[in-house]
Amino acid sequence: MKFFIDTANLDQIKEAQDLGILDGVTTNPSLMAKEGIKGIDAVMKHYADICAIVDGDISAEVVTTDFATMIEEGKKFAAINKNIVVKVPMIKDGIKAIKWFSDNGIRTNCTLIFSAGQALLAAKAGASYVSPFLGRIDDSGWDGMELIYQIRGLFDIQGYKTEILAASIRSALHIIKCAEAGADVCTSPLESILGLLKHPLTDIGLAKFLEDAKKFA
Ligand code: E4P
Repeated sequence: MKFFIDTANLDQIKEAQDLGILDGVTTNPSLMAKEGIKGIDAVMKHYADICAIVDGDISAEVVTTDFATMIEEGKKFAAINKNIVVKVPMIKDGIKAIKWFSDNGIRTNCTLIFSAGQALLAAKAGASYVSPFLGRIDDSGWDGMELIYQIRGLFDIQGYKTEILAASIRSALHIIKCAEAGADVCTSPLESILGLLKHPLTDIGLAKFLEDAKKFA
């Protein structure tokens, strides 16, 4: 499973990159706004800055909803760097745009996926990735993992190459469960990635080893 970080914060992206395990980055308009980025020039520069840190797929989300404008926006993003993946919402014009991008050699990530039918349609249109929002489904009292399993089964039976990019991750446990379910990618906040490191017995064990090491230093 590939590890992406789900943030537009350059310091957090650098920290994950320094771990040596990072395969890519996802952003969304809320994450970009959180960093105080304003105006199209600043947005374009920010994506270029992310691409300079990570040599992997970087999702840049369109902020329009009609076919023609999404195409123009996506073309501009794709021109920033070969690693840019245009993130397109799961709406009717979004599906048309994904098909256009796919036919014109631009990779896409279909976002805001909450059902297997949506994932199927995005894959059929040629999306490179689909992003099921695990945490938001859990938040509403349903089991997000069931959707990951369902999409995995469906793509395998139908032979779709579209990658399942599990998104809206809330914990280290979500990451482990996504790996078990066969997600191709998991995009997580830095905190959840670092959560995988933690175990109290590791800390206790290391403290004892370091203490004993003093005996033969
Ligand atoms: C990533 O592509 C999504 O935009 C993101 O994971 C959504 O996460 P949230 O539900 O924590 O906002």
